[in-house]
Amino acid sequence: MTNIETDGLSMLAWTTTPGSPGGLTLREVPEPAPLPHEVLVRVEAFAPNPGDIAALAAAPPGAIPGWDGSGVVLEPAADGHGPAAGERVIFLGLSARGWAQRRAVPHAMTAATSTDTPWERLATLPVPATTALRAVRRFGSVLGRRLLVVGATSAVGRFAVQLAARSGAWVVAVARDERQHEALRRLGAHETHTTPASVGSRVHGAIDMIGGQHLVDAFALLEPGATAIALGHAAGADERFPYGAFVADPTTADRSITTFFLGAEPHLADEMAWLAADRQLQIGDIDARPWTELATWVQHGAPRDSGRVVFRVDHPRAI
Ligand SMILES: NC(=O)c1ccc[n+]([C@@H]2O[C@H](COP(=O)([O-])OP(=O)(O)OC[C@H]3O[C@@H](n4cnc5c(N)ncnc54)[C@H](OP(=O)(O)O)[C@@H]3O)[C@@H](O)[C@H]2O)c1
Repeated sequence: MTNIETDGLSMLAWTTTPGSPGGLTLREVPEPAPLPHEVLVRVEAFAPNPGDIAALAAAPPGAIPGWDGSGVVLEPAADGHGPAAGERVIFLGLSARGWAQRRAVPHAMTAATSTDTPWERLATLPVPATTALRAVRRFGSVLGRRLLVVGATSAVGRFAVQLAARSGAWVVAVARDERQHEALRRLGAHETHTTPASVGSRVHGAIDMIGGQHLVDAFALLEPGATAIALGHAAGADERFPYGAFVADPTTADRSITTFFLGAEPHLADEMAWLAADRQLQIGDIDARPWTELATWVQHGAPRDSGRVVFRVDHPRAI
């Protein structure tokens, strides 16, 4: 059930409301007030990320969640940088406030796109595709090297498989559902496995979206000098490394695990624009829904059966 309140202010947004379905209420809130480095965007679509959903529990009442999406620039940044009024953009603002009819977002986290790419496709890109790009880049050249992607059916994982394969890596994809392996091979995976433990040969690097035992097993697969990027924690499980996991000898020296946070990555606009312009990038199935269904979807656990759930924002009052 959607709970819409109106109090005479000027735009609609989903706000955190303890006790409401999904902990959210669609209500009127003040218009955003962009800072000099921010553009004002009319939000057309957004695709909630696991991090958006996880952040709801800690958000104070009345907060507007939502990191990323697609839309149209209504007002350019006052400092003269970034996209112009009327340009279609994707955007990423980890201060949230995206599940709204309009939002202010730094121009450095906003990228202009072509006029003929659907809003739904664009909305699936900012967090997952940019995360995958920056993660793959951390390995330097992967040409001819084995790169492990753990959680390859995830939104980030699918992009990581594609970008790593294009970069010349031998992509070793791990996904628990064997029925998805053929699709991962079509995206560019050279090997598919259901767990890292079943991967036979060692790897030059690993990108792990799952955590828990998967991260432990991915670390064990690293060559000397190789790194595992602990990017996600979808399993929600502890990592327990056995005694000896960090004992180094000539075959295990200089291995590392590093963490990653997209919000700490600077200057993302150029990569976002490149990803948005890339028609070859496969985004998977899109389940497009009216944004009035957001709270009910969250209440039911934010299920993402196949592909991405994308919400289209209503703009009943012309602006
Ligand atoms: N550090 C950062 O800056 C950053 C940025 C973006 C995302 N992330 C994190 O990266 C992770 C992936 O994000 P996403 O948007 O790509 O997620 P997503 O599309 O929701 O996918 C979740 C994935 O986790 C798998 N999974 C869930 N539980 C599992 C388990 N117990 N064992 C094995 N696989 C399991 C799912 O497999 P099935 O397909 O079989 O269900 C699916 O592939 C999340 O933890 C997210 O918070 C971090």
